[in-house]
Amino acid sequence: MADSAMDDRALLHLLSDGLYHSGSELGVSLGVSRAAIWKALKRLTDFNLKVDTVKGKGYRVIGGLDLLDSKIIQDHLSCEAQSLTDIELLLTVDSTNHYLTDASRISQKPYAVCLAEMQTAGRGRRGRSWFSPFGKNIYLSIGFDLPGGVEALSGLSLVIGLAAARVLRSQGVDNAMVKWPNDIWVDGKKLAGVLVELQGEATTGWRVVAGIGLNVEMTQAEGAGIDQLWASVSEYASCSRNKMVAMLLENLVQVLAIFKENGFEAFLMEWQQYDCLRGKSIVLSNSGIEGIAKGIDAFGALQVDTGVELLAVNAGDVSVRPNET
Ligand code: BTN
Repeated sequence: MADSAMDDRALLHLLSDGLYHSGSELGVSLGVSRAAIWKALKRLTDFNLKVDTVKGKGYRVIGGLDLLDSKIIQDHLSCEAQSLTDIELLLTVDSTNHYLTDASRISQKPYAVCLAEMQTAGRGRRGRSWFSPFGKNIYLSIGFDLPGGVEALSGLSLVIGLAAARVLRSQGVDNAMVKWPNDIWVDGKKLAGVLVELQGEATTGWRVVAGIGLNVEMTQAEGAGIDQLWASVSEYASCSRNKMVAMLLENLVQVLAIFKENGFEAFLMEWQQYDCLRGKSIVLSNSGIEGIAKGIDAFGALQVDTGVELLAVNAGDVSVRPNET
């Protein structure tokens, strides 16, 4: 392999055990010079990895790494989800959602999937950013076509959140709940968020890119800059990111097949079991309207009892009144 073609992923794989490796050992393993290893290690500083260098011992990534691995992900997929052959696994990208909305990457396959170890411009809902450090969490986007007009979209983002909540509960995060429309919360803290982005129009059908950001192993110190209460899966259960990705894909494919066929109504009962707002005093962020959350209707709209009327809210942010989280 030419030095310039050195694969950063292969180097990271060797360092993922968290042990010291000398420059010459790494060079021999990867078939490149020590200088190329040194250059590649410098590149890895872009990922903000804590690389420890000790003379006579070599280099190690402090704490090791649990890297995403397409083979392990595929091995965890059932036959039904084995049809997910278009899975792109990147070390770094601006945003996995943005990557899949690029016209040149629109796949002919039923689903296109993009995963990254880190995002440099991870997108959250309502123009916010999504904190996306290297190798800690899951940043997953899935792209697919959805025929039909505006009505075909109702409840779509809710079923994506539901798929994530199902996986979390099955993996031991027993209190995982959905906060309308599609945040995943546990014990009043945010564990995951969903961002659905659309291209197309009511007459031609939609190209959907749905992204899930799930905190898996990020410590409170690592995520200190996040401006809301949040949690990681590792605080509740132990599960490898690869297995978690496979289970997310599996559930996404399953719920989307039913959603395409039967719409949101097929999930209404199940969604209500994950609803963390029901019965709580809430405030609608856009309007400041207050009321009691009364679940959702057949289209996925949040029902809010204001004391005067029962409002159906289709979009927006909701906050729970402070003494109620
Ligand atoms: C939210 O604000 O709650 C939504 C967060 C969505 C983050 C995910 S991470 C994978 C995908 N790529 C992005 O840029 N955003 C979504």
